[in-house]
Amino acid sequence: MKKIVIIGGAGYIGSHVVMGLKRSGYNPIIFDDFSTGNRAIADRLGVEIIKGSISNSDLLKDVFTKHKPVAVMHFAACALVGESVENPAKYYQNNVSATLNLLSTMIDCNVKKFIFSSTAAVYGLAKTFPIKEDSSTNPINPYGWSKLIVEQILKDYDKAYELRSIVFRYFNAAGADKSAEIGEMHDPETHLIPLVITAAAKGTPMKIFGSDYDTPDGTCIRDYVHVSDIARAHILGLEALLLGGEAGIYNIGNGDGYSVLEVLNTVEEVTGSKVERDFQPRREGDPARLVASAERIKTELGWSPDYPALKEIIQTAWDWHRQNL
Ligand code: UFG
Repeated sequence: MKKIVIIGGAGYIGSHVVMGLKRSGYNPIIFDDFSTGNRAIADRLGVEIIKGSISNSDLLKDVFTKHKPVAVMHFAACALVGESVENPAKYYQNNVSATLNLLSTMIDCNVKKFIFSSTAAVYGLAKTFPIKEDSSTNPINPYGWSKLIVEQILKDYDKAYELRSIVFRYFNAAGADKSAEIGEMHDPETHLIPLVITAAAKGTPMKIFGSDYDTPDGTCIRDYVHVSDIARAHILGLEALLLGGEAGIYNIGNGDGYSVLEVLNTVEEVTGSKVERDFQPRREGDPARLVASAERIKTELGWSPDYPALKEIIQTAWDWHRQNL
């Protein structure tokens, strides 16, 4: 069975990709420092787990020499926009410098296929919608910059060292595996859907950051995409690379935007509980609207979402929450 090293495989998106790879007949190996990854979730996946940091070249070399993976997927990053504004050094250190170390070690060990998690935050304040991959990139926070810098490094490494990579720019990952064995569990949780579900379950009010945006109901619009659909995109990307495909950059989104209030209404519908709205000022760094064009990934990788509807996405998140939290 082909081995794939999954950096950050104990995290929310990484763990769903590990699950998807196993179901597709691959042998994923989790490499995680457990700074934000979840040990209990990783243990449920039934794969080899290596605890370590990608700053540790010796450990990475041992792993690559012993396992001879056909590819590496990299999910390990700091990913909080607000924190990146307050502490950019942490973001450039963990997301850029440590990634450079990982890439050099891969090249030294002749592991030359790479799948990288990027973000819609690279687009900054987009002017035309839906956002295509060749839209201008102009991040408005250090988190977005840290990802865009690695994208540029990957372009240069492809030409110079034949390190072939596929970059996925995620829009808003949401939902949980259909088994409800794994799901979203950040600490602290900052993401909208799990917070609204918790508010519905506990009967607590939900803070809404900004109601004066230039959108139909005044709240921010996002493109929510199911985490298992994100996982499938990675498998398609991996297969393309293993067949000798070229490097590529792809959005992963559904192409539909939903406002914060629409998400609240849908959570109420799914859970059958009312959620009190607590209107707050805008949160720093939030663009009004982020909606993907997913045409490129559909045409070039043959991807299409199994969970295109917001209600279904929220239903899987609710099933996970009810059974585990
Ligand atoms: N929101 C609230 N109340 C909350 C939490 C969120 O109103 O308690 C709002 C936010 O202001 C935003 C929307 O819900 O308008 C979605 O917020 P999330 O935090 O769930 O997601 P983001 O769109 O901020 O973040 C996502 C990814 C990031 C990425 C970013 C790009 O999770 O990794 O998109 O803008 F950087």
